[in-house]
Amino acid sequence: MNSIHDYYSPNDLYNKIIEGLNKLGKDLSKVTLDDLQPVDEFHIRGDTATKELIELSGFTPDMHILDVGCGIGGSTRRLSHQTGCWVTGVDLSEGYIDTAERLTQLLNMQERVKFRATSALSLPFDDDSFDGAWSLQMNMNVEDKLSWLKEAYRVLRPGARAVLYEVCGNKNTPPYFPCRGRKTVP
Ligand SMILES: C[S@@+](CC[C@H](N)C(=O)[O-])C[C@H]1O[C@@H](n2cnc3c(N)ncnc32)[C@H](O)[C@@H]1O
Repeated sequence: MNSIHDYYSPNDLYNKIIEGLNKLGKDLSKVTLDDLQPVDEFHIRGDTATKELIELSGFTPDMHILDVGCGIGGSTRRLSHQTGCWVTGVDLSEGYIDTAERLTQLLNMQERVKFRATSALSLPFDDDSFDGAWSLQMNMNVEDKLSWLKEAYRVLRPGARAVLYEVCGNKNTPPYFPCRGRKTVP
């Protein structure tokens, strides 16, 4: 888990993003989800995939969804924006969570979108706390996949839906770091 944590530990990421927005001439009081999309959705096919997954999710405004391995919260914010639901994002990287919180404030979405720095392997939530789970390309980083899935199951209410979007390997094309599989990463 240490190598994954180091891999996803940026230095001063929020200010670097703000610098980039300034260089593009963006008015910081009017920044949109689409302005941030090139940097805040760390998964294959970016926001195109996120929008398709939101359509498939069936999540509604009354629901509270847990985003496991949320990164800097691009898809967390988009999920809330598009469905109206409440979302709590968790991530192993304190640097990502700090950036996620600050970007969410920049977009004035902090009422419905919250974050916590924690591991997916020990979630600081009571049993049956969430109406759904959402996790985009996090599972690939975790060696003990059954444990995080059990932990997510514990905090979901009976009948809740989980949306998982993942990198998968096969015997011809194994996944490489940062994908953690028993045979690929020492
Ligand atoms: C490829 S990024 C995807 C981020 C986000 N879901 C997205 O699509 O933009 C993988 C994320 O999983 C997080 N992660 C890896 N292992 C984790 C763990 N055990 N618990 C929580 N988050 C973890 C990493 O810190 C990283 O932010």
